[in-house]
Amino acid sequence: MKPVEVKKGVYWVGALDWDIRDFHGYSIYKGTTYNAYLVIDDKVTLFDTVKKGFESDLLHRIRNIIDPKRIDYLVVNHVEMDHSGGLLEVARQIEPEKVFCSPMGHKNLLAHFHAPDLPYEVVKSGDTLKLGSRTVHFLETRMLHWPDSMFSYIPEDKLLISSDAFGMHWATSERFDDQVDQAELMAHAAKYYANILLLYSPLVQKLLAQVKQMNLDIDTIAPDHGLIWRGDPMKIVGAYDRWSRQEACAKALVVYDTMWHSTEQMAKAIYDGILDEGVCVQLKNLAATHRSDIMTELLDAKALVLGSSTLNNNMLPRMADLLTYIKGLKPTGKIGAAFGSYGWSGEAVKNISDELAAMKVELLDPGIRHQFVPDHEALKKCRELGSRLGRAINEAGCKLPGYGCSR
Ligand code: FEO
Repeated sequence: MKPVEVKKGVYWVGALDWDIRDFHGYSIYKGTTYNAYLVIDDKVTLFDTVKKGFESDLLHRIRNIIDPKRIDYLVVNHVEMDHSGGLLEVARQIEPEKVFCSPMGHKNLLAHFHAPDLPYEVVKSGDTLKLGSRTVHFLETRMLHWPDSMFSYIPEDKLLISSDAFGMHWATSERFDDQVDQAELMAHAAKYYANILLLYSPLVQKLLAQVKQMNLDIDTIAPDHGLIWRGDPMKIVGAYDRWSRQEACAKALVVYDTMWHSTEQMAKAIYDGILDEGVCVQLKNLAATHRSDIMTELLDAKALVLGSSTLNNNMLPRMADLLTYIKGLKPTGKIGAAFGSYGWSGEAVKNISDELAAMKVELLDPGIRHQFVPDHEALKKCRELGSRLGRAINEAGCKLPGYGCSR
């Protein structure tokens, strides 16, 4: 196996996890990677480790380049277990002179591994570390993705090692952005942003402004998951700028769960009404669509329209699951409405509307409820709601094309 050289003397030494399908509630259809980077300099330095169980993959890749015992420094950019689960085993093998981490990283590493004897060295934003011909500049990036997260920037290589930021869950044989299909690349990056980073969007905006102000010369961004951005690193920076501003596209999302297809008929009528206004619309049945794929579509949608039958005086459980998930990720600037068929009590529509209002979704309608099977008149009402939503999207002046609109 040939080592993967990212820059002269800088190697990708991470692990591929082809089999993982669930990342605490986020569906991963094509696995992921746990990236780690080895820099050969006067002080040989390893940036991040891998998830527990993948230590031998990492050490094997390192041995193809250098004896792991020759590693002097270990930099922990992020403590979450997908990057540090293998830390104790790796540290035992390489016996680093120092383990660098942020102040929160130090606290979190102690709380995870209970190993105060590791040679920790705490670094803060603005601190630098001389490796020989290179200098590492540290930048704390709190909450991207945890309070301990930080970037390591190596100006001599124009290289930003960005931890979770700019990553994606996608296991591939290719290691670089310019080796893969661009639409698939951006779809994985969008899904990752929507499901992991969306709630931290205000911090992403601040960080992007800070990096711009620092005028960092970057031609390669090496995240801890997925592909390394060397062909067009500014493509993902631009996308993060758009996603973190939560700019909506001319796109609506109609999501439903249904017991006996009545709510489904209502969903289809709303879908038709939105389409009548020339707006791109996605129709998703929760029985067939994972919550994290819905979240991805919502990233750039202007309207969120949710429907559920009533079960035991409430919405169906899959809708409650979706609402809990969406609420945590804090999308902003959406319009929406609720709808649903019911038998005798019909609380689902109000309960969904209340949840949408709590998320500051601007409701265009108090919600459409219909007892049992909708007739033509009831479906006409749904179609009219769809048209109203479509017109509101057009009036909001959403111009950008949305992901999924041509799918
Ligand atoms: Fe990839 Fe926050 O861990």
